[in-house]
Amino acid sequence: MTRTLAFDVYGTLIDTAGVLETLKDLVPDQAAAFSTLWREKQLEYSFRRGLMQNYQEFSVCTRQALDYTCSMLEVDIPEANRKSLMETYRVLPAFPEVSEALKTLRADEARMFAFSNGTADAVRGLLRNADIDGLFDDVISTDEVRSFKPNPGVYAHFLRRAGATGAEAWLISSNPFDVTGAISAGMRAGWVKRSPSAVFDPWEIRPTITIGGLTELPEALAAT
Ligand code: 2OP
Repeated sequence: MTRTLAFDVYGTLIDTAGVLETLKDLVPDQAAAFSTLWREKQLEYSFRRGLMQNYQEFSVCTRQALDYTCSMLEVDIPEANRKSLMETYRVLPAFPEVSEALKTLRADEARMFAFSNGTADAVRGLLRNADIDGLFDDVISTDEVRSFKPNPGVYAHFLRRAGATGAEAWLISSNPFDVTGAISAGMRAGWVKRSPSAVFDPWEIRPTITIGGLTELPEALAAT
């Protein structure tokens, strides 16, 4: 059976902590806390906009989360620097093992898609910048249905666009909410546990497989 793989982008292929270097100049004492809160708030805004059916592009969630984080941590970052932080978000680096692991999977003839809350343009730019754009069959964005993960409709949209069934399609994500969302919507899903201290939500839904990085993915898939 040809496998269809949907790779989450932010946090799975692309390292959102890539903003840390810029943040270290702007908020030297709080760079790590800033980066974490910014990311958490960005996702919270996407969840809330999805539930409220009040869609704006993911970059709006990112920018509004940036402004929230500045207020919450009481740091005064000038508008020009906020703009440059947003620019940094468009050129974040890939995790180190991603390129080689994707090439191995490609050689195994998997069908591979980037599947993200980010708009197709933003995702294509990130993949191009990381020099991994040629490894995907296509980019599929939740923007095409004006909603966000983990709305079940966005996973159904992925399956329709990829021409795959849930039984043959895998979501690969480091984001537990994305993994539970995909499984709940009928897909299989691999959790990329990028840090030893990462915790999977203690729900009744468990990942189909758990791996420490994408290098482990070919073997983990072969064992299923
Ligand atoms: C993505 O869709 C959830 O940020 C994650 O790329």
